[in-house]
Amino acid sequence: MPLIIKDEYPEVLFREDGKRLDGREKNELRPIKMEVGVIKNADGSAYLEWGDNKIFAAVYGPREVHPHHLAKPDRGILRVFYRMATFSVFDRKRPAPGRREKEISMIISDCIEPILFLELYPGTSFEVFIEVINADGGTRCASTTVAALALADAGIPMKSLVSAVAVGKIDGKIVVDLSGIEDKAGEADLPCAITWYNKEISLLQFDGDMDLNEMSEFLDLAKDALGRIHQIQLEVLKSKFLTIQEKSDEIIVNKENQGES
Ligand code: CDP
Repeated sequence: MPLIIKDEYPEVLFREDGKRLDGREKNELRPIKMEVGVIKNADGSAYLEWGDNKIFAAVYGPREVHPHHLAKPDRGILRVFYRMATFSVFDRKRPAPGRREKEISMIISDCIEPILFLELYPGTSFEVFIEVINADGGTRCASTTVAALALADAGIPMKSLVSAVAVGKIDGKIVVDLSGIEDKAGEADLPCAITWYNKEISLLQFDGDMDLNEMSEFLDLAKDALGRIHQIQLEVLKSKFLTIQEKSDEIIVNKENQGES
């Protein structure tokens, strides 16, 4: 049987018609679908499909801190656990959390912490568990985005949502939302996140080669994409609350009808 090597990189990342290998324009996001309230056992939860990324986030809190010695007397703490399932990538990913998962957990925590009012919850913890079921580039950004949605679903007071996306450079051109293959075969990858209450960048990482003059082009493209991602997050939350409102209106009408008969 021939050995299958799935991770071979293509030599060019644009098609003859000028589109990217998956048919996207340079500023086009992969299809994004989000849902909230998907995990019954969590205080809040969300699921996201972003291209071929499939990610769950479950939130608990405020609750007692375990282990106790991590508790802070003057504020709550935020703990984020980003995990990639062994079957989420082609290569054999070790089941135990590695250095990459610890780093990404820390990054996501840094992105989310500014939007919470941790000072109002001394001695407690908020925990965010993120499970990447399928990975295809940009999972730290997709995880940050879905984690913010799960926190909102839990009803935890927040200053705003946070949204994240990676911009990058492939075949010398600046593009938004790198797929797995573009991430690996491209020249540069710049994941960034924004907190909407103050419109500040809460994550800016960089990997690869970039001319400093290109930075503003990168950020303009990211800003536009982040706005579109934020809209999707808001629509998902609005539709959750509209459904609750419709159900409660229905209950009130039913009670009124019962009272009349
Ligand atoms: O996912 P993200 O872009 O935030 O992080 P990365 O470390 O730059 O990884 C880029 C992509 O490489 C991931 O999204 C996965 O698709 C892939 N990957 C993999 O195939 N095997 C791993 N052990 C880790 C990542």
